[in-house]
Amino acid sequence: MVKSPLSDPVGGAHGWLRSALLLGLLGLVPACRAADPFDQNEQLATPRRGAVVAEHPLAAQVGVTILNMGGNAADAAVATALALAVVYPQAGNLGGGGFALWVPHEGQPWSLDFRETTPAGYGTELYLDAKGAVVGDRSLNTPLGVGVPGSPQGLFELYKTHGSKSLRFAALCAPAIALAHDGFPVDSWLARDLRKASAKGRLMADPAARGLFYPGGEPLSEGEILVQPALARTLERYARGGQAAFYSGPTANAVVRTLIEADKRLGHIVGDRHMTTQDLADYRVQVRKPLVGWFRGHQVISMGPPSSGGLALLQVLAILDGFPLDDDRNKVRRDQALGLPAAAEACGLSARSTHWLVEAMRRAFADRAQHLGDPDFVDVPLNKLLAPEWIADRRISIGERSNPGVQAWRAAAPRESFQTTHLSVLDKHGNAVSMTTTLNTSFGSGILVADAGFLLNNELDDFSLAPGVPNTYGLIGAEANRLLPGKRPLSSMTPTVIREGGGRVSLVIGSPGGPRIITAVMQVVLRVLVYEQSLEDAITAPRLHQQWKPEWTRLEGGWPASVLETLESQHGQELRVEPKSKFGSVQAIQVLNNREPAAVSDPRRGGRAMVQP
Ligand code: GLY
Repeated sequence: MVKSPLSDPVGGAHGWLRSALLLGLLGLVPACRAADPFDQNEQLATPRRGAVVAEHPLAAQVGVTILNMGGNAADAAVATALALAVVYPQAGNLGGGGFALWVPHEGQPWSLDFRETTPAGYGTELYLDAKGAVVGDRSLNTPLGVGVPGSPQGLFELYKTHGSKSLRFAALCAPAIALAHDGFPVDSWLARDLRKASAKGRLMADPAARGLFYPGGEPLSEGEILVQPALARTLERYARGGQAAFYSGPTANAVVRTLIEADKRLGHIVGDRHMTTQDLADYRVQVRKPLVGWFRGHQVISMGPPSSGGLALLQVLAILDGFPLDDDRNKVRRDQALGLPAAAEACGLSARSTHWLVEAMRRAFADRAQHLGDPDFVDVPLNKLLAPEWIADRRISIGERSNPGVQAWRAAAPRESFQTTHLSVLDKHGNAVSMTTTLNTSFGSGILVADAGFLLNNELDDFSLAPGVPNTYGLIGAEANRLLPGKRPLSSMTPTVIREGGGRVSLVIGSPGGPRIITAVMQVVLRVLVYEQSLEDAITAPRLHQQWKPEWTRLEGGWPASVLETLESQHGQELRVEPKSKFGSVQAIQVLNNREPAAVSDPRRGGRAMVQP
């Protein structure tokens, strides 16, 4: 029986859950409050209250509780991420990695790379057969997919560097410990994700994962209480000892033991080149310079390599800035007012501006495939890729017709994935954290560290394992993203914060969704900044995704037929509408002019936006 003395700082495990239920889950905290029109302090830059948006209501509630206790955005982000590690095993997890962006109310933004690294014994040859072809799912379902986890060090570093210090680290861990120890009701999303064939196959193949998620051989169903005592013990050690308690001692030993056992079951494909306790001891997060650009008077701050998200976002915004989007927006509005059939009813974007958007995405993803990788191993020419001459060149190359390039390469459509998770936090002092974490695919490798209670990632599939061979997202890469010992695989995670005129934080945003992270964030940013849509409308609007290869553009259902027809007939775009697909799950907070936060969790998934009372 695990009893947590660490839960005291937040009022006890049961006390915490009770207040969560009373305050948040009963809807007593509205997502947006009305402004006071007589407030004389309208011009003050700080928001009136903080907000947390995450992909699980219990995790969002943890974050708001920490803000209410006097924690800042970094404290709340750490506690929310740890809660996700318990209630969102699909992605929020100790066994994976991610990126965090800290943007203070005043001062320099800071970004943290806690992406997984390649174990020292690994090399591309382990993934290939005798003829040099990449072997099926080795980088997805076996220990060869598992990179050295970064999240435990990343979260600890965020707390140490930017936490308010008004709360002990143990206090930030306490809600997660309580959720793991006491259990929580499985929500419809977890139940649904466990029923999916891809996850089921992977998790059922691992005895520990099968025991936890498929007791009696059946997936946990909605409403069942999931208790995770091994995870509670791991979190208690972490709460007491910080990151060192993960990267050495019982937890590190359990990770290595689990991988060796999994390899034995698979017939020794890794053998003595497995991940070692030294790999774990050697893991280091990297503080990176955030990518900063400007778009129409807004300072856009996002993640640089080894994520490709920030660069692609800035490139697309820069390319589009040269197109007459405002004329187009006004025309759509006029058409709508006149009730003309060509109006882009729910979308706001005309077919022509959608065409420009698709072509800009295509070019950004071409650069991604060719140039991007871990900056500790390759020289990523960021300045060249963002130089006005290059952006102009890319813009000029966009004509009225689709330009998919000369190659006729095709890949299977990327699988659906909500394997990654994003949280956005704003505190009442105006500080923001935008953090995306992942295991790569849903439930990662499916390999559960039995004695420590968490799943391990399969992030190494994000490397380009052989030239022209697509990864699970259909993305191809080049030498820059080749797997090497100690290297981090290229990512699409796009944690982003926008400051109005470089001053106050006006938008905190990010999403899961593989490469569709980049395009989902991009589309919401465009809709808010150019099309002046509310955050809710911008997030709800149907999305599209173009990633250079394959050359066709994928679209969610809901696009007006007139737009689709014009894109195909006038602009030569090859479109594939996927009415049942959902692209990303944006979690965002906008600070309105009246200083109220408008917080929105994408209705595509079951997250929650919560604003402080
Ligand atoms: N594993 C997905 C990404 O990092 O983009």
